[in-house]
Order: sequence, then C-alpha cells, then structure tokens
Amino acid sequence: MPSSSADSPAEAAPLRAALLAQLGGAAAVLLLVVLIGRFSRADLLQIPLILALLQGAVAAMLSLRQRMPPWWVPIHLVFLPLVVVVRQAEIAPGWFLAGFVLLFLVFWRTDKSRVPLYLSNAQTAAALARLLPRAPCRVLDVGCGVGGLLRRLAQARPDCEFVGIEHAPLPWLLARLRCLGLPNARVRHGDFWREPLAGYDLVYAFLSPAPMPRLWIKASGEMGADARLVSNSFAVPDVEADQVIEVRDRRATRLYLYRPDKARESAAFPAIPERPDQE
Ligand SMILES: C[S@@+](CC[C@H](N)C(=O)[O-])C[C@H]1O[C@@H](n2cnc3c(N)ncnc32)[C@H](O)[C@@H]1O
Repeated sequence: MPSSSADSPAEAAPLRAALLAQLGGAAAVLLLVVLIGRFSRADLLQIPLILALLQGAVAAMLSLRQRMPPWWVPIHLVFLPLVVVVRQAEIAPGWFLAGFVLLFLVFWRTDKSRVPLYLSNAQTAAALARLLPRAPCRVLDVGCGVGGLLRRLAQARPDCEFVGIEHAPLPWLLARLRCLGLPNARVRHGDFWREPLAGYDLVYAFLSPAPMPRLWIKASGEMGADARLVSNSFAVPDVEADQVIEVRDRRATRLYLYRPDKARESAAFPAIPERPDQE
C-alpha cells in the first residue's frame, strides 16, 4: 500500500501560504521603515527597489518557515523586486492581464492539481506503443495535455481506441483539434478523477509525484484484470513496479508499469479520499 503522506498546510493550500509569506514580508518592511524613520533618516529605505528586496528576503524566509517546497524561495525573492522594475518600464496594464489569462488557460488550477503541463516525447510514445497488447485494446491518457501522445498512439495503432481527458481549456482545445480526423482518438474536457478506469486495458499517466498515491488507490479499485497502469517518470510511492522501462531519450525517461489488479488481490482498498483538487 502506498503511504498517503499528509501534506503540510502550505502544500495543501500553496496560494494561501504564498500570500501569507508576501504579506508577512510587506508587514516586516513597513515596520522597519516606521521604526527607523522615528530614530534616524535612512535614505536607503526611501528607494523602492531596496524595500522590495528586503520584502522578498523576509517573504522567502517565511515560506521556508511554512515548509513550502524550496523552489518557492527564488519566487518570493524576486516577485516584488520584479514588480518594481517592470513598473518603471511603463507597460500598458492590458498586457499583464493578457499574460495572466493566457497562463491561466494553459495551466488552469495547477495550484490545486499540482500537475503542470509538460509533454511526452516521440520516443516515449514509441516505447508505450510497444507495450500495448497485440489485440485491439482501449487506452486512457489521464491529463492528455495537447494530445501529442494520443495522436502518435492513434496513428501507430488504428485497431485500438484512445481516449484523453484534459481539464485545462487551451491544451484541451489543441488536443481536440490535433485528434480531429483520427477515428480512433477521442479527447474529452473534464476531470480524470471522475472517469471510471474500468474498461481500459492501459492507463497512461504523466503527472507529478503529488497525485500518485491517490491515482494508485483509484486504479487498484477500478482497473480490470490484466490492465496496466503506466506512469511516466513518477513511481507510486511504496509500491514496487512490475517493470521499469528505460526510454532511450535525452531526459532518460522511465516508464513504471503496474498491475493494479494484483494489488487488489492482496489487499482491501479504502475509498478514494476526497481532496480539494476535486472539481
Ligand atoms: C504533464 S502533462 C502530460 C500531458 C500528456 N499526457 C503527455 O504525456 O504529453 C499533465 C496534464 O494533466 C492535466 N491534468 C492535471 N490534473 C488533471 C485532472 N484532474 N483532470 C484532467 N486533466 C488534468 C494538466 O492540465 C496537464 O495538461
């Protein structure tokens, strides 16, 4: 059984934790300015960029204190200093709104799903095609991104049926367009946690470490006899893979193969836990 390691509050609600760190940094700098202003004239504290750098340093420390993952540190360090620098460039505000909307449509609620968009390459698609049964089969790509993997598999195996589910609007639209004209590929908009995995011979996941314990519980409870769960790069914690395929690509991709039905035979699985990332 995988361990369902409890997330720290900062990991469970990263946006709230980031906001707290930023506000804490701002409050600390404000206090410093008020205190120093009482006793002396500190010219350095009149310079917005210096204040922003101090705010970033305090925010970074607060994020570490909240046990946010270490990659948040550089984000906190540069966030407000960048705002100060960019403001001087006098860029029309509409550009920032456009950038935000574009990123939102591509990455959607990555803060909740904790699965960003990155794509399987052609070598991985070829390795996966070799893993498919010889007989016609059904394959699901949970979080199919822009549909590249689905497209390649559907072209390689016209006798099989390929389904992709994607919740981020722009990748979903691209995936849909790219699979038009392929009668054996279907792309659906939605949340893969709501998709029953029974009836698929192979479920492919290229997600992140965060959802793997929950995906394993879902797969073990729902996937049929002899069906396989294949995870690109992210192993299920505390579960030994039946096979690990090393793909000969530049990023040394590893495909972890599991037989969830075998696990079901050896243990009773609890209900899938409700998580805030449910849509
Ligand atoms: C790392 S990408 C992989 C894309 C594609 N499977 C591939 O291998 O090229 C993961 C995708 O899963 C999507 N995703 C994450 N959580 C999801 C969910 N609950 N339902 C549907 N899609 C989801 C993300 O938006 C992202 O596009």
